[in-house]
Amino acid sequence: MSHVLDDDELAELELHLAGLTAEPSLAVRLAHTHPADGVPVELVLEDRGGTPVGRLVAEHTEARDGVIVVRGRPVAGRPVEGGVARGRRARPRRAPVLALDGLDEVHLTQIRTELADLGAGARVVVVASARAPERETLALLDRAERVLGGSAPVELLVLPSRADTTPLRREALTRLAAGARVVDRCTGVAGHRRGDGVVVLLTGLSGSGKSTVARALADHLLRHDPREVTLLDGDEVRRHLSAGLGFSPEDRRTNLLRIAWVAGLVARHGGIALCAPIAPYARVRAEMRELVEPHGRLVLVHVSTPIEVCEARDRKGLYARARAGEITGFTGIDDPYEEPLDADLVLDTSEVGVEDAVRRIAALLG
Ligand code: ADX
Repeated sequence: MSHVLDDDELAELELHLAGLTAEPSLAVRLAHTHPADGVPVELVLEDRGGTPVGRLVAEHTEARDGVIVVRGRPVAGRPVEGGVARGRRARPRRAPVLALDGLDEVHLTQIRTELADLGAGARVVVVASARAPERETLALLDRAERVLGGSAPVELLVLPSRADTTPLRREALTRLAAGARVVDRCTGVAGHRRGDGVVVLLTGLSGSGKSTVARALADHLLRHDPREVTLLDGDEVRRHLSAGLGFSPEDRRTNLLRIAWVAGLVARHGGIALCAPIAPYARVRAEMRELVEPHGRLVLVHVSTPIEVCEARDRKGLYARARAGEITGFTGIDDPYEEPLDADLVLDTSEVGVEDAVRRIAALLG
């Protein structure tokens, strides 16, 4: 069985393979695994490009919320290529380390002094999160190179984003220096904003007001939020990304997973993706969440406008056609809409105005 590693898992694997962590095992999460697939004894670990970069000999397997977590001993496969400055990743060797995760003018003199104090052979290690937008990690690395590169080599350490990375960071830096001194200089300057990409998924019946709210929200964010905004509207997606797909449960799922995949990419680069499909099935929404969450937060908004209101609006005349039997499998008529139990916000556009709706969603995106 094989498993494609997400950014965090790949960073964990690299820590193991470079000997930068004391932890004996590595855990990976197998989403959407069918119980019939059985429990794997050994997993081939692949990068996003499908290259087998390692193997995991399973020692412990646990099923949790439909996700199987496999813990085991990682074994090296082919070298990982590409990705954020892979050629510049720090390796353990006996040399003092000055670790930085930001740079600002006020601290520069101090950083230069500290580097000089560490003596000849010292190196600068830029510490970044596996979830930070690539562009920002590279910008920080280039800046460190420009400012300090004349005095010391500049390398990169990518850490998986866990709840508390402090022990991991300490361990990795100690091992990188292999017995030489470490000065860990957290400047407190965000060289990059970590994991702040976000996906807003507006789900609800046809005619519930999802697109109207999403468009108004996009306008608002373009003016008030520094992040790039991408609108993936249901109907528009179906004209382009999902052209040719119909409304069978399987086609809807394909459509929705495509949307989630694109939205995940947007979030990965620190942007905001606004998605407004019907997304009627709870199981598929859970799969969308699985695709998004490695890259950023998912904010689920249930646009709960009652069907009577949607049907009375019937802008596209589709409800009338569905009632007349000209369209079958229409959501809310003869195909189910499963109301979300995990919504961050519930908005009924027959009661809440567009401006108010926008304000309430925007408040969740900080
Ligand atoms: S989803 O189920 O895959 O999330 P999506 O949001 O992309 O649906 O497309 C819904 C739009 O397609 C509706 O707003 C409506 O205009 C149109 N549509 C056509 N046939 C159907 C159908 N059988 N059920 C729901 N919407 C339909």
